[in-house]
Amino acid sequence: MTKETAEGWSSRIGVIMAVAGSAVGLGNFLRFPGKAYENGGGAFMIPYFVALLLLGIPLCWAEWSMGRYGGGKGFNSGPGIFTVLWRNPLSKYFGTMTVLIPLCVYFYYIVIESWCLMYAWDYLTGALMQGHAPDVYKAHFATSTGEGGDGILFGVGSKTLIFVGITFLINFLVVFRGLSGGIEKFCNIAMPLMAICAVCVLVRVLTLGTPDPALPDQNVLNGLGKMWNPPASFSDTLLNPKTWLAAAGQIFFTLSVGFGVIIHYASYVKKNDDVALSGITASAVNEFFEVCLGGLITITAAFIFLGANIANYTSSSFSLGFNALPNVFASMPGGQFFGFVWFFMLFLAAITSSLSMLQPVNAFFKESLAISQAKSIGLLAILTVIGTGYIVYFSKGLRALDAVDFWAGEFFIVVLAIIQAIFYGWILGVKKGKEELDRGAQLKVPGFIQFILKYVTPLFLLVLLVTNFIPLDGKESTISKRLNEAMADPVVGGALGLVIGSIILCMIIAHIGEKRWKADGRYKNL
Ligand code: PHE
Repeated sequence: MTKETAEGWSSRIGVIMAVAGSAVGLGNFLRFPGKAYENGGGAFMIPYFVALLLLGIPLCWAEWSMGRYGGGKGFNSGPGIFTVLWRNPLSKYFGTMTVLIPLCVYFYYIVIESWCLMYAWDYLTGALMQGHAPDVYKAHFATSTGEGGDGILFGVGSKTLIFVGITFLINFLVVFRGLSGGIEKFCNIAMPLMAICAVCVLVRVLTLGTPDPALPDQNVLNGLGKMWNPPASFSDTLLNPKTWLAAAGQIFFTLSVGFGVIIHYASYVKKNDDVALSGITASAVNEFFEVCLGGLITITAAFIFLGANIANYTSSSFSLGFNALPNVFASMPGGQFFGFVWFFMLFLAAITSSLSMLQPVNAFFKESLAISQAKSIGLLAILTVIGTGYIVYFSKGLRALDAVDFWAGEFFIVVLAIIQAIFYGWILGVKKGKEELDRGAQLKVPGFIQFILKYVTPLFLLVLLVTNFIPLDGKESTISKRLNEAMADPVVGGALGLVIGSIILCMIIAHIGEKRWKADGRYKNL
């Protein structure tokens, strides 16, 4: 056994808050409304719920069960847990995915998080209250994010750099204070505060009525319709594989499933404590924030003030939140206050997620290299400063950010989800998996979920993976398009290099870790 003092959650509600904190993030308020709008509005919800029921929730339970199982055997890092499940030298390499993904997603997620903090600040000072002025807000976004050119955010006293620094510091301070003393405490305060802020903005939006009598169509009801009405032709949406891909991708991203976060957080749950009800509760909280809050606020507000022009803002998840909404806040009564509340809420949503990206990597360093919390946090700081520094420096067109987002946040999560589904359904086995899930459970999970986990989920995932390699629109597959971009543009190539470099580093550390665990006899008598 290890001599380290065991870390753990201090309460049941604490772990649920932390997992829900990880799940509720920018994905709920920015990514979801954009994806739903682009992919058929109300019709998107059909593939969305199918993916939730066949992929998201089953895999979430699998992660909770495997995490607690590995934790019960004394391991908290993905590579350690995977080796417990399958005593094979390859296990630790599969397990490194659970560390790689949070690490790489952190590189860019923290950048967007700091934009949110900076925008909240700009509302407090009134700098963003410029009336209905689309060009001004576009320009503000471009200067804040350095979209215009590489290196322009690196000047002395650069505002963006200062906010990135502050955001970094807060994240590291919380993680340094430990699991229950830092992350759990932070989420216990941030989650309710975030809910209050979100409800406050929602009430404001839903009580806007018809702000401009000259434009009677731009009212709340039509705004909701814009988001939720299904399209005239279902064949464009439901028969289009892209809709299904987008829905599945959104489910993973929003639930933080397939990222290695839940498996890690669950490893601190005690052997006989419930995971079935906790897992579904955290997912339900996430869906409430996503469908009921994110789904009712963003597009509705934008439509009421922008009408048909909203179509100019749906090309990326950023333009809705950072370009369209400032016009909206400028036009609504109390806009400065609500603008602040909105961006501060986004910041809270983002930080509870980014904490959950640092912690699995931190635990992995400590467990593999047997180093102290301070040293591990130091190593993590160096790596993330390099990764984030690259993204902040090469800001032109946000293409470094986009490339890391694709590889880590879209492609490798499907790979990890497949690995996890196989480890659960075929290596641990659904019989043992069910026993794990049922032990201490306050919710009886129906038996067919195991069938889904063994056959349906891996197949569904395999299809998702394969579609990346076939040209869906007859031209080029997603992977070849991305690889060509990486070859053609050294910055995009460098971003891919960053991800590959991180894989290699994690594998080396996992290799060192496993040697140590074996030498310490930690795999004996499991
Ligand atoms: N689930 C988060 C969101 O919706 C994103 C996230 C990804 C969180 C990976 C943790 C790990 O924004």
